[in-house]
Amino acid sequence: MPGAIYAEGLVKTFGDVRALDGVDFDVPEGTVLGLLGPNGAGKTTAVRVLTTLLRADSGRAEVAGLDVATQPNEVRRAIGLSGQFAAVDDYLTGRENLQMVGQLYQLPAREAKARAGDLLERFNLADAGDRTARTYSGGMRRRLDLAASLVVSPPVMFMDEPTTGLDPHNRQALWELIKELVAGGTTLLLTTQYLEEADHLADTIAVVDHGQVIARGTSDELKTRSGGDVIELVVHDRERIPEAQDILRRLGEGEPGLVAHTRRLTVPATGGAKLLAEVIRELDGRAIEIDDIGLRRPTLDDVFISLTGHSAEFDELNGAGNGNGGRDGGRDDGREKPPRGPDPGRPDPGSPGPGRTGEGPVRDDGREGGAA
Ligand SMILES: Nc1ncnc2c1ncn2[C@@H]1O[C@H](COP(=O)(O)OP(=O)(O)OP(=O)(O)O)[C@@H](O)[C@H]1O
Ligand SMILES: [Mg+2]
Repeated sequence: MPGAIYAEGLVKTFGDVRALDGVDFDVPEGTVLGLLGPNGAGKTTAVRVLTTLLRADSGRAEVAGLDVATQPNEVRRAIGLSGQFAAVDDYLTGRENLQMVGQLYQLPAREAKARAGDLLERFNLADAGDRTARTYSGGMRRRLDLAASLVVSPPVMFMDEPTTGLDPHNRQALWELIKELVAGGTTLLLTTQYLEEADHLADTIAVVDHGQVIARGTSDELKTRSGGDVIELVVHDRERIPEAQDILRRLGEGEPGLVAHTRRLTVPATGGAKLLAEVIRELDGRAIEIDDIGLRRPTLDDVFISLTGHSAEFDELNGAGNGNGGRDGGRDDGREKPPRGPDPGRPDPGSPGPGRTGEGPVRDDGREGGAA
């Protein structure tokens, strides 16, 4: 029997852009699927098709056992949706917005009121609850929109980048709410660009790029697939980085990544502690001083690089499309994004990482990874 969210061969094109290029999912009831991918990967398009807001060109999808193409009204009654762009009524207060949703779902007035108060509290909007939403900051609108999607708990929920634009405190609060929701039996499809978030919340993860699912599995399975471990080290003298890189290139698996400003090098590796010892011996032998060295499990970002040849945030940081004819070029969607500088532990987009050198892995479809 198909799961609570089921899709088979979904295709959706916009002109010559294939936003969805044959997507399949099967999400068992009461579990969370994390849809992970960079800008323009097709995440929102998938959510729009599954929530009946958009018709696929071909393929089939069922939500809560209902066909999205032929039973859209029934599907809408069975789902909750929090979109990428907050949909709140500017001229109502936060509280009124939430009560209105309760009324739409035919909650008794008292219950709608209590639920609104509770959600305002949980999303740190209690003080602002009686101001019109027009006066809210971006992060507050976002929280109000999320609260609205949680007024009732439908059996299947869709959340499109729910934590984009939230500060760490509110992000944590939402994570807790999501966990409660799922513990109560809700099936959730969540899109995110935050690898850590998918790692934290999702039972299974589907990595999407160019409208296709390029990998799926639990976060552990995906991490294992990218080669076991990562050796990470910080070179003391900047001038010695190329030599250290040579050693890693020889002993590790693939092209070492470099975060230039922190002098941090990483390379996927198999061979664990024994290999680490060998790296240390070689560095020692050439008197290359290091400030730090260790072996760690790969993050999902490492996984993304090994699958696509570029970091999940590569395109965003470079302000470029993701290699599909500039399909996302210059789109300004007014979305809030916390500014993200280069981050230790993430490859420096300004350095010759796998996406730049053309030495990244070749994708399933024969295209070479990277933003070339
Ligand atoms: N209504 C539309 N008209 C034309 N092109 C569209 C439309 N909607 C989406 N696209 C294109 O389809 C592709 C997939 O877009 P989609 O919004 O699904 O990506 P996404 O993974 O949600 O990206 P983001 O992380 O930026 O939200 C992009 O190239 C986008 O420009
Ligand atoms: Mg989107």
